[in-house]
Amino acid sequence: MRKAMAEAEVGDDVFSEDPTVIALEEEVAALLGKEAALYVPTGCMANQLALNIQTTEGDEVIVEADSHIFNYETTAASFLSRVQLNPVKAADRGRLVVDEVNPALREKAYYMPVTRLLALENTHNRAGGTVYSVDRVRALSEFARANDVRMHLDGARLWNACAYSGVEPIEYAKYFDTVSVCFSKGLGAPVGSAVVGSTEMITKARRMRKIWGGGMRQAGIIAAGALYALRNNRARISEDHAKARRFAEIIASDAKNVYIDMESVQTNIVLLGINGRPSGDEDIAMMEQRGVRLSHGAHGLLRAITHLDVTMAECEQAARTIVDIFG
Ligand SMILES: Cc1ncc(COP(=O)(O)O)c(C=O)c1O
Repeated sequence: MRKAMAEAEVGDDVFSEDPTVIALEEEVAALLGKEAALYVPTGCMANQLALNIQTTEGDEVIVEADSHIFNYETTAASFLSRVQLNPVKAADRGRLVVDEVNPALREKAYYMPVTRLLALENTHNRAGGTVYSVDRVRALSEFARANDVRMHLDGARLWNACAYSGVEPIEYAKYFDTVSVCFSKGLGAPVGSAVVGSTEMITKARRMRKIWGGGMRQAGIIAAGALYALRNNRARISEDHAKARRFAEIIASDAKNVYIDMESVQTNIVLLGINGRPSGDEDIAMMEQRGVRLSHGAHGLLRAITHLDVTMAECEQAARTIVDIFG
C-alpha cells in the first residue's frame, strides 16, 4: 500500500484532474452500482454530505437511536444542514424493522416536520457490528419509497456486512439513494471514505464538499492507499471476523465476570460487559498496561476491534489476559 501511494499518479482533484482519485471514484461507484462517487476525507463527511444533498432545511431524518450519525457526528446534521434527526430505538441489536419506523413517519401537515430520509447503518457500530439481512433492508426501502422517503446507508463497514452475509455490495446498495463507505476502517487505508449516488446528487455533493473545506488537491497519494485497500483487503476481511469470534468464545467460556452477547458477535467488533457494572477509564488503563487496547463502547461496555494488524494468536492472548484480569 505504501508503495502504491508513493508511486501514485496525481493531479489537481479540485479541477477533477487527479487520475488516481478518478479511478477510485469510478471503481467504488461501479462496485455499488451507482452513477457516481466522491472521495472525501472522512466517514462523517460522507454521511453529512448524503444528508445535505437529500434534504431541505427543516426536514427530518429518521435514524436508529444508537446510530453513528446521531451519536458521534457532533450535531452536524442540525449544524450543517439544518435538519432534525428523529432517533428510533431498534429492539434487535441496532437493526430497525418497518413496524418501528412506521410510527416515526410524520403526518403530512404544514405544521409538522417533513420526513425526508431514512438512514440505516450496516454494520451497526454501537450494537457490536451487527449485520442487516437484505430482506429487512428491502422491506424498509419499499416502505420508505411508498411513503416518499429517501434512503441513505451509512456503510462505513459495509465490507464487513458483505463478508458476513455473503451478499455483494451492489445488492445492499440498490435499496439506497446514497451510500457512504470507508476505506480507513477494516480495509486498512490511512485516509478516506466515499459517498455514492446519482450523478446529479454527487455533483451537488462535490460543491458542498468544497464549501465545507474538503476539496483536496493532489489527493491521489491517499486515494492510492484507498484503491489498494479496496482491491486487496476486502477478500481478507472475514479473517477479522474469525479472530473476533475466537476472542469472544474464549472470554465467554472462561470468564465468569465478563458478559458478551454472542448473538451480536458477527463481524469484527466485540462488546464486553464487566462485572455487571459500567466500565470506565480505569478498566481501559489496566488493560492497556497488560498490552490489550480496548475502547469505550456504548452503554458502559468495553469495545474490542479485530483488524489486519493483529494476528489470531494475539487475539487469543488478549482474550486470555481479559480472563486473567476480570476472572
Ligand atoms: C458507522 C460509522 N459511520 C461513520 C463513521 C465515521 O467515520 P470517520 O471516523 O472516518 O469520520 C464511523 C466511525 O467510526 C462509523 O463507525
